[in-house]
Amino acid sequence: PVLVVDFGAQYAQLIARRVREAHVYSEIVPHSMSTADVLAKDPLAIILSGGPSSVYADGAPRLDPALLEAGVPVLGLCYGFQAMAAALDGTVAPTGVREYGATRLEAIDGSSDLLHTQDLDQNVWMSHGDSVTAAPRGFEVIATSSGSPVAAFENPDRHLYGVQWHPEVGHSDRGQEVLENFLRRGAGIDPTWTTGNVIDEQVARVREQIGEGTAICALSGGVDSAVAAALVQRAIGDRLTCVYVDHGLMRQDESVQIEKAFGESTGGARLVVVDAEQQFLDALAGVTDPETKRKIIGREFIRVFEKAQADILREQGVLEAEGDGSLETTENDATAFLVQGTLYPDVVESGGGEGAANIKSHHNVGGLPEDLSFELVEPLRTLFKDEVRAVGSELGLPDEIVWRQPFPGPGLGIRIIGEVTKDRLDVLRRADAIAREELTAAGLDRDIWQCPVVLLADVRSVGVQGDGRTYGHPIVLRPVTSDDAMTADWAQVPYEVLGRISTRITNQVPEINRVVLDVTSKPPGTIEWE
Ligand code: XMP
Repeated sequence: PVLVVDFGAQYAQLIARRVREAHVYSEIVPHSMSTADVLAKDPLAIILSGGPSSVYADGAPRLDPALLEAGVPVLGLCYGFQAMAAALDGTVAPTGVREYGATRLEAIDGSSDLLHTQDLDQNVWMSHGDSVTAAPRGFEVIATSSGSPVAAFENPDRHLYGVQWHPEVGHSDRGQEVLENFLRRGAGIDPTWTTGNVIDEQVARVREQIGEGTAICALSGGVDSAVAAALVQRAIGDRLTCVYVDHGLMRQDESVQIEKAFGESTGGARLVVVDAEQQFLDALAGVTDPETKRKIIGREFIRVFEKAQADILREQGVLEAEGDGSLETTENDATAFLVQGTLYPDVVESGGGEGAANIKSHHNVGGLPEDLSFELVEPLRTLFKDEVRAVGSELGLPDEIVWRQPFPGPGLGIRIIGEVTKDRLDVLRRADAIAREELTAAGLDRDIWQCPVVLLADVRSVGVQGDGRTYGHPIVLRPVTSDDAMTADWAQVPYEVLGRISTRITNQVPEINRVVLDVTSKPPGTIEWE
C-alpha cells in the first residue's frame, strides 16, 4: 500500500481517498507507529499528512529521520513537509506571515517531477504559521509564495518530495495532479487499483477465511450490510444466510422492497425474513422517553436476531438442541461466521488496528451458549463509503439500495414524538411516503442527505377542512444536507416542492392538518428528533 502517516489533522482520510482515486491502494497509519512497523508493511510510498502543531512546539509529533533513509519514496504535505525539512538539515521558522486559504504561488518549476507541467495559473490551499526558510541540502526549491520562501521541494535521486500546501483539498486547483505526479513519477506506481480488483481480492479473502463453513449476515436495508452480503454471497453462494428483522417500524413498502431488491441482485443467498412487528409494538407500549425507546428497540432486535441465528446454526449443525431446549455447541467445532459491513473510517477511528477478529456474543439474551464465539467477516473494512457504493453497483445491486439515504436502525420508532402505536405508525408511513415521493419526483434525492418526517403525536392543533373544524396532528419535515451526518444544515428545498408535499399530506392523511418545516442546523439540533 501507499501509507498515509496521520500527523493528527483531519486530512489523513482525505489524502487516502485521493490516492485511491488515483487507483492506488492506500492505508492510514498513526504517526506514533514505529519506523520498523511502518516499513514492515512494505509501503510502495509514504505520504506525511498535515497536522495542527508547529514542528518546534513541545510534544509536537516527530518524524523519525530513518523513515527518510529507507529508500521508500516520501511526500510531505504541510506539517509533513515541515517535519521533513526539520528532520533533514533544512530550516523551519516563523516568518511572521501566516498563509491561510487560497494562495497564489510566486514561482513554480513545471519541469520538476512533482509539479510537472504545472504553472502559476492556479490557487493552492495553505494553512500554516511556520515556513520552511531553507531547503535541506541536495533539494531543489520548486515553488515559492509570498509567505513561503520554500513552498515545495524535491530530491528525485532520494525520491523525497514535499509541498507546503494541501493538494488533497478541492480548493487546490491542481492538487490531484501533484499527488499523481508523486505516485507515478516520484514513486513509479502503476494505477491498477480498481473496483473490479477490490471485488476479486475480497472474494478470495472471504473464501479463504470461511473455507467450507457457513455465514450469517443481518441485513438492515442500508447500503453497507447489503454490499457486504453481496460480496460474501459471491464468495460462498448459498452458504450465506441473510436475516432481515422486520420490526414494524419501517417505512411504507420498505421491507418488501428490500426483500425484492436483495433477492434479485444476489440470486443465491438465502434470506430469512423475521416478522417481529407485534413483539416490538408490545415492548414499546406506553413508552415515550426517547432513550428508553432506543434501548428497547435495540434489545428486542438482538433478541429476535439471536433467536433467528440460533435456528439457523442449529439447522447447519453448528449448534445442537439438548432435550431441555438449551443450546450447546456441537463437537465438530464449527465456527460461526458473522458478516458485518464495517467501513474503513470506523476502523481508523477505533485506532486503526487489525481489529478483534474473534468477538464474543455480548448480548447473549436469545439462547446462544455463553462460549459461542463468532468470527467476524468484514469485507468492507478497507473501503470508504463511495467505494462501497461503487462495489455495490459493480456487483449488480440496484440503485435504490446503492444510493439509499441513511435511515436510523430504530426506524419510525424515533420519529413519533410520543408513544409508538400501530395506528400512529400507519399515519406517519402515509405522510412519509408522500414526502419521499415528491422529493424523488423533484430530483432531490442526491442533493439532500435525508429527510426525516416526524409525527408530533401528542400535539394537536385546530384546523378547518371543507366546512368542518379539525383537531389534528402536525407533521414535521426535516430535510437536511450533510457530508457525514456529524454536522448538517437544513436543506433549502424549493417552495413549490414543499407546497406540493404539504397539500398532498393534508388532503390525503386525514389525521394530519398541519405540515411544518424544521429549519435548524446540526448543531444545535440533531438530524432525528429523538
Ligand atoms: P442524529 O439524529 O444523531 O443522526 O443527528 C445522525 C445520523 O444517524 C442516523 N441515526 C441512526 N442510525 N441507528 C442508526 O443506524 C441509530 O440509532 C440512529 N440514530 C440516528 C440519522 O438518521 C442520521 O443520518
